[in-house]
Amino acid sequence: MAVVNPASLIHAAFENRYAIAAYNVDSLDMAMAVVRGGEAANVPILIQITVDTLNTWGWERLTHMVCSLGASSEIPIGLHLDHCKQVKDVFRAIDLGFTSVMYDGSTLDMALNIQNTLKVVDYARLHNVMIEAELGHVGREGEPLEWRTVTSVEEASEFYAKTHVDCLAVAIGTEHGKQVDEDHIRFDRIRDIHREVPVPLVLHGSSGVPNDILCKLLSFGISKVNIGTELRTLWWKCLLENQTRKPREALSTMSKTLRDYVNEKSRLLSHPVN
Ligand code: 13P
Ligand code: ZN
Repeated sequence: MAVVNPASLIHAAFENRYAIAAYNVDSLDMAMAVVRGGEAANVPILIQITVDTLNTWGWERLTHMVCSLGASSEIPIGLHLDHCKQVKDVFRAIDLGFTSVMYDGSTLDMALNIQNTLKVVDYARLHNVMIEAELGHVGREGEPLEWRTVTSVEEASEFYAKTHVDCLAVAIGTEHGKQVDEDHIRFDRIRDIHREVPVPLVLHGSSGVPNDILCKLLSFGISKVNIGTELRTLWWKCLLENQTRKPREALSTMSKTLRDYVNEKSRLLSHPVN
């Protein structure tokens, strides 16, 4: 199979109240383990890469390698550009063969976010690429606190009416790289957004969110679940625990552990909720 535009897969998930898992990878060995996990679960997955990771390994080289990984896989794989803040970088990824992109204008005012998102929408539509945007801001450590804003229902409605993105990342209390308590999750807000705006929603900062809460969120339109930190933590743990072994053996243990994690998480999310 080749890498695919995942928009129809995400839409099917939205219609049937389940989600596609999107895994952040920093290296090829992680990407290979993630693909194996998706194959074990026999469900489509997205591999997500950031601009920093592309800068680290080389845009062309890494993209071509992950595309060829997708071509040899047994499941549909979307190759997704995660949290890209520069329109020109989104265009570059599309030119190289990414099948899905996130333009992240979440720290801009809404008019500029819409303006830039529309540029991405135009270009992505020409190239049959899925588009994700973010409204409200899912925070991470080290950022100014004033950036953190929960997504407003009215703004989400206006944003979608003006851009018609394929899916929308919403800020509903999760945080990148950090466990949050259940009472921080704004179930009220996501329910209202889901009622008013007919677009598949994306959960960012999903690491540390217990599985029962993830499943509950699937009934409120969450159709793409982004997972980074849990995967990276497992990667480090496996390699550190096996550092006295041969690299091949340590990497093989890491690969099996990540595969099992991805298998379990992808299966869980792929079950429709009632
Ligand atoms: P976590 O690192 O918290 O899983 O978040 C991942 C993410 O949102 C990537 O866009
Ligand atoms: Zn994110």
